[in-house]
Amino acid sequence: MGSPIVLGIESSCDETGAGLVRDGRLLGHAVASSMDEHARFGGVVPEIASRAHLHALRPVVRQALDQAGLRLSDIGAVAVTTGPGLSGALQVGLAGAKGIAYALGVPLHGVHHLAGHVAADTLEHGPLPDPCMVLIVSGGHTSLLLVRDLARDPIAHLGDTLDDAAGECFDKVARVFGLPYPGGPAIDRAAREGDPGAVPFPRPLPGSYDFSFSGLKTAAARWAESHAGRELPVHDGAASLQEAVADVLTRKAVAACVEHGVGTLVVVGGVAANSRVRTLAEERCRAAGITLRVPPLSLCTDNGAMIAAVGDLLVRAGAEPAPLDVSIDPSAPLQCAALHPVVAGAVAA
Ligand code: KG4
Ligand code: ZN
Repeated sequence: MGSPIVLGIESSCDETGAGLVRDGRLLGHAVASSMDEHARFGGVVPEIASRAHLHALRPVVRQALDQAGLRLSDIGAVAVTTGPGLSGALQVGLAGAKGIAYALGVPLHGVHHLAGHVAADTLEHGPLPDPCMVLIVSGGHTSLLLVRDLARDPIAHLGDTLDDAAGECFDKVARVFGLPYPGGPAIDRAAREGDPGAVPFPRPLPGSYDFSFSGLKTAAARWAESHAGRELPVHDGAASLQEAVADVLTRKAVAACVEHGVGTLVVVGGVAANSRVRTLAEERCRAAGITLRVPPLSLCTDNGAMIAAVGDLLVRAGAEPAPLDVSIDPSAPLQCAALHPVVAGAVAA
């Protein structure tokens, strides 16, 4: 008998995802997004997201099973995002995952959302080499990590953002530029017709592996303000902002690989979908002799397959399942792939 089929459930923000993975292979997955419901508010509204998860959870699990040609009773373990993310949104996913796991009598594994982003790449490109450098760039996080065995070893942070995340910078500047939400894809599209050298935006914190995007965000807002009364050259602004973000991210990631003698860079998270980040990472990795791995676009943004991928790694590593009273931690730092906060611990903390 092979290893069990792992159902992964993701509900930390505005995507409800379910995925099925066995032995590192993706069998099926489905995602429902409440993004359109948040668009008119210019950002994710937690209560709306929670309610949308409640409505979407059963259908996405069903859809993932149908896609894989499996039944609920084929599931041998359940993995669920326990943090970080929106509290109410995480609670819905955890409640659903507990219900399925306990009804089936199978183990439940709590997963750190960011470890999910890292594992997403394994579904396309196979196991991660040990060690590898991981650049996580999402709406809420920007980190440069030295990853050994994702399921067994603690994750070393070489750098983190001191303020805004890269995706947050895109989202907020897009708003100032009058572009639609979510801002990242809108900036990416607008940038296609712009000149990346038009505006000399700053490259914050050179010489450090930490990141800071709030000064860049402010510089972009000031630049937009300076056009008051005149038409804003949005395409040039978007291309220049995207260039600054892509330059900073890829320069630091490649420098970290070189300094630590690591031959593989993995770029993950929603911002890894950015066309300039991908192209510049390719160019710089090629020049430095580093192998670049980036998950396919559909696995870059939040999904359940990536959580199932971590669950599958944990199960195969013989990891201890979550206790019955496992809870959520909306602001959990990334230390390990497994995340099993319990309510008692959260109260004491
Ligand atoms: O990883 P993700 O789906 O959710 C979080 O865990 O945060 O990342 C969402 C972020 C948003 O800030 C979104 O604007 C950004 O990823 N994003 C992009 C692109 N696609 C999504 N940023 C730049 N270019 C893109 N093409
Ligand atoms: Zn994410």
